Amino acid sequence: MEQEFWQARWRENRIGFHEAAPNSLLTKHFARLGMQTGQSVFLPLCGKALDLDWLLSQGLRVAGVEFSQGAVEEVFARQGLTPDVTRADGLTCYQSGELTLYAGDFFALSPGHLGAVDAVYDRAALVAVKAEDRMAYAAHLNQITGTAKQLLIGFDYDQSLMDGPPFSVPGSAVNMLYQGSHEISLIEKRAADGRIGERCNTLEQAWLLTPLT
Ligand SMILES: C[S@@+](CC[C@H](N)C(=O)[O-])C[C@H]1O[C@@H](n2cnc3c(N)ncnc32)[C@H](O)[C@@H]1O
Repeated sequence: MEQEFWQARWRENRIGFHEAAPNSLLTKHFARLGMQTGQSVFLPLCGKALDLDWLLSQGLRVAGVEFSQGAVEEVFARQGLTPDVTRADGLTCYQSGELTLYAGDFFALSPGHLGAVDAVYDRAALVAVKAEDRMAYAAHLNQITGTAKQLLIGFDYDQSLMDGPPFSVPGSAVNMLYQGSHEISLIEKRAADGRIGERCNTLEQAWLLTPLT
């Protein structure tokens, strides 16, 4: 059901969430994660975001998962990479160099697929998940990444003004989902641009989640 919804969006090119450049909250705040060259970052629900390319350019190992096989293939094509393609557990794994992307369902990923994950970068992933599925999403993300530190970028707006996705994920929801596993700090909030900014006076927020010790 969810999968068909997103596949239709990709088929019909209704992908207003895709940005023409790496997200500027990512490029501004990623250093706060304190990543070293060669460490790994995981992007849930990654689309074909140029954030993937930017993270590779930082010398990181980059992994992601995305329903759309076409989106995954486009990332490798624009990187000029010919991936090895393998199928297992209902997922198709594309791998070349430092880039590994799974085409398939995020919830089918296990810790064994990803190996060690040093950080998570969630941009427009949590906000793409229905409110009733958020707890399962956050729990699964923590499970497959060993509760890694996280840079989380989402939206906060009056949900009565618009149906999602993207859904509004206010600070209270971020706290509810992650306060048991992470220390949570809001590092920036700004007016969102694009259609969502115009329609709903939306805030785009960046959160730094640091695992509790
Ligand atoms: C709002 S878009 C954000 C994409 C990307 N993070 C970006 O910033 O451009 C959400 C993406 O998640 C994908 N998606 C939604 N649910 C998924 C799931 N359970 N497993 C894998 N991908 C999923 C959709 O196909 C869509 O491309």
